[in-house]
Amino acid sequence: MQAQSLILRQPDDWHTHLRDGEMLRAVVGHSARQFARAIVMPNLRPPITTIAAARSYRDRIQAAAGDHGFTPLMTAYLSDDIDADEIARGFAQGVFTACKLYPANATTNAEHGVTAIASIHRVLERMQTIGMPLLIHGEVTEPDVDIFDREAVFIERVLTPLLRDFPALKVVLEHITSDDAVQFVSAATANVAATITPHHLALSRNALFAGGLRPHLYCLPVLKRERHRLSLRRAATSGNPKFFLGTDSAPHARGDKESACGCAGIFNAPMALESYASVFEQESALAKLEGFASEFGPRFYGLPLNTRQVRLRRAAQTVPDQIIDGTIELVPFHAGETLGWRFEGLVDA
Ligand code: NCD
Ligand code: ZN
Repeated sequence: MQAQSLILRQPDDWHTHLRDGEMLRAVVGHSARQFARAIVMPNLRPPITTIAAARSYRDRIQAAAGDHGFTPLMTAYLSDDIDADEIARGFAQGVFTACKLYPANATTNAEHGVTAIASIHRVLERMQTIGMPLLIHGEVTEPDVDIFDREAVFIERVLTPLLRDFPALKVVLEHITSDDAVQFVSAATANVAATITPHHLALSRNALFAGGLRPHLYCLPVLKRERHRLSLRRAATSGNPKFFLGTDSAPHARGDKESACGCAGIFNAPMALESYASVFEQESALAKLEGFASEFGPRFYGLPLNTRQVRLRRAAQTVPDQIIDGTIELVPFHAGETLGWRFEGLVDA
């Protein structure tokens, strides 16, 4: 008989965008309800580059999250002129958990990103010495590189030499989208891992154009061919601890998505665990979900495993067409679809 409920050690989200201000207040509860901790991306305007900015952003997140017992783990945004001492001090103080590398102009709010790896060699050296993880948006931005090849070309031109120069640096290749990334990370040393999103497991690039242009499915790195999606599903459900959960939930107001120049980002926080559970079930790998969602991430980061447990119940659940909070209108991932699992909350809470 099929299991009617699924109890997991509470998961963490190793890559999310919580934004700030009114948007933060509208979205943070969706993450805090399901996840104990989250690695919070620093791509605000202006980006988070100092300890003071990270502390104050962390306070705002905690205030907005309320009493879920949610712990935001902060990241520093690397720019060409980032201060290595500030990064190392922030890590020692437990304010910065990791640094985020955005190649300049690779994605939303990446204008201040790194233009050449050579300009951050000193900080990478420090991070390698102190064991601070580097989280990478792995896409080149050269306009002559086809958008569907940007991850594979990044691995070849940027990541391979970077790991040659810093072989012991802890690296997470974020939100991987291609078989090239799966192969690279699988073959790399144990200090190299990757996160995988619900949408890259659920959809191939065909979904972007199914019956018309689907702006709510546009994200970066963009969805890839079916064979890449299948490779990601094999990696996520393999039990290989190099692959773990990171939603890349990236909310943008409806009007900014449904636009002549729509923003990249999929808001998947409301149904994140349900979406992952559906994929693992389709792959007959529900027994592998806990490792992927709750164990491999903290082990990679050297953080304790969560002790609380959560329950998902087998029950049809229709995802709302939109989520409205004050003046903010958001369209969640899977809007209008019916999922087979429902997140119920903490066990014995
Ligand atoms: C993210 C955002 O909106 O901040 N967008 C996205 O499509 N994933 C940025 C990012 O992670 O690339
Ligand atoms: Zn992201």
